[in-house]
Amino acid sequence: MSSRPPDDPVAKALALDGDADRIKDFYGDWARSYDDDVASEDYRAPEIIASLARLVQLSWLGKARADIRLMDAGCGTGLAGIALRSAGFPHVDGFDIAPAMTAKAEKTGAYGRLLAEIDLNADDAGLGALHGTYDIVTCAGVFTLGHVAPEGLRHLFALSRDGGFVIVSTRESYLNSSDFRGYVRQMERAGEASLIFTLPYASYVGDDRADYWVFRKLPI
Ligand SMILES: C[S@@+](CC[C@H](N)C(=O)[O-])C[C@H]1O[C@@H](n2cnc3c(N)ncnc32)[C@H](O)[C@@H]1O
Repeated sequence: MSSRPPDDPVAKALALDGDADRIKDFYGDWARSYDDDVASEDYRAPEIIASLARLVQLSWLGKARADIRLMDAGCGTGLAGIALRSAGFPHVDGFDIAPAMTAKAEKTGAYGRLLAEIDLNADDAGLGALHGTYDIVTCAGVFTLGHVAPEGLRHLFALSRDGGFVIVSTRESYLNSSDFRGYVRQMERAGEASLIFTLPYASYVGDDRADYWVFRKLPI
């Protein structure tokens, strides 16, 4: 993992302690320069996740991209939505906790429905009306220190239809200091999820690495 100066925006983002108000304030400020800042560090997660969505569609979903419904969780300014649209998926919805980020995502034109103020750390994320709706739920750059606890994964599975897919990145530092793996094992034991494969220690941002996880929601 690379070491970053304390005033680096990525370093500040990693220290938000999962506090909803601090996250909204922080991304409220960062929204303006976020795209340029992460581009300058070759942020790869959105494109890798979009490529994995394409692989999932080709390998397992048995229907055309035009018929696939996707939800991009923690969509931020819309980088994953743009990558998913470029990968040929026309139906992408998104949500985020930070209204400043979804306001930017709106401008990309990549999303159908966009929701703000959705907290993946909340017991009830307020997404009940969309449960069981999506063929693929993506989540890029959100399972990272200071953002979302491993338990947030259950909200992504709730959005997927049975037999649908959940694709997430976990930053290396997060994986090493959270019990994400333990939570995945718990979901597998409960018969709620099946881990199809991971892309381990892959490009993420700058010198930092991430694992990418492709899950299927059970029952199929
Ligand atoms: C590093 S950005 C990634 C944004 C986008 N997915 C991308 O790849 O560019 C992390 C995003 O997670 C959102 N986020 C952080 N904590 C969250 C939470 N508890 N619930 C929902 N979204 C959250 C932030 O507002 C921010 O937009």
